[in-house]
Amino acid sequence: MNLSHKKVLITGGSAGIGKALIHELILHGVKEFAVVGRRQDKLEKLKVDFPQAEFILIAADVSQLEDVERIIKTVSTRWDHIDLLINNAGVISTGALQDLSDADIVNQININLTGLILLTKKSLPLLLKSKEAGLMNISSGLGYIAKPFYSVYAVTKAGVRHFSEAMRRELIFENIHVMTVYPTATDTDMMITAKMENMDSAELVAQKSIEGLLQKKIDVILGGEQRLKDVETNLNHPLEFDKNVKEKYKAYKTQTEHHRAM
Ligand SMILES: NC(=O)c1ccc[n+]([C@@H]2O[C@H](COP(=O)([O-])OP(=O)(O)OC[C@H]3O[C@@H](n4cnc5c(N)ncnc54)[C@H](OP(=O)(O)O)[C@@H]3O)[C@@H](O)[C@H]2O)c1
Repeated sequence: MNLSHKKVLITGGSAGIGKALIHELILHGVKEFAVVGRRQDKLEKLKVDFPQAEFILIAADVSQLEDVERIIKTVSTRWDHIDLLINNAGVISTGALQDLSDADIVNQININLTGLILLTKKSLPLLLKSKEAGLMNISSGLGYIAKPFYSVYAVTKAGVRHFSEAMRRELIFENIHVMTVYPTATDTDMMITAKMENMDSAELVAQKSIEGLLQKKIDVILGGEQRLKDVETNLNHPLEFDKNVKEKYKAYKTQTEHHRAM
């Protein structure tokens, strides 16, 4: 896939991994972006940080149907097609299930999963007009391996994994490459309230994601060899993985006690 002259619609492009993806795409020659985020001030900063690119900035919440419709309306008045949709916007609220607020449960599902599905649905007519399109969904390592105290977040990310797989097959005769990215803990605003060390950088996630897009990979799994082994163990020997969870249970609990970025 040649990226120059591509038109990219990205959600959550005003911070973290999304912003790093914009930077990486600019390095590959992309100039035109439509960027979605809830806060206008964070979106406006993109124009200052990346003066070489053209931005359509859309302050919108992907979990709101009318906002999703407005996103597509705004984009379609300016562009006749979309080449790459990156569903990256996401939130997290962790802890024991009975301690999670009902609102955090509903909103995680609506932002991380329902919004992503609706935006994909409504972007498809424009993606199908591209000569060579891509759909990149940002899941998480937790989309492969569910860990204690991440129940709701993990289910949204497993949903993203399955949605990608279904769409890849549904679009098998179309010119749309469908791929999923599974970052491990990454040093962004989302992780400020998590107690974690040795995180990946957002730049690394962005580099691997775009490399994967160019190589037409269907899955980009961050976290190195150990993560790949863990995914395999969890799939084929889930009780083996449970033993490991038992040993680290307290650490998981402490790590997730105050982790919230909504
Ligand atoms: N950081 C990690 O360790 C990690 C690991 C695995 C997967 N991920 C996934 O990677 C993606 C990016 O995460 P990140 O770490 O870069 O997060 P981040 O730094 O918190 O950035 C999140 C971005 O999404 C936007 N956003 C959040 N809710 C939104 C909504 N309802 N509608 C529209 N935009 C919304 C935010 O802008 P506003 O707040 O202005 O809306 C911001 O631009 C997420 O899907 C996350 O689940 C992250």
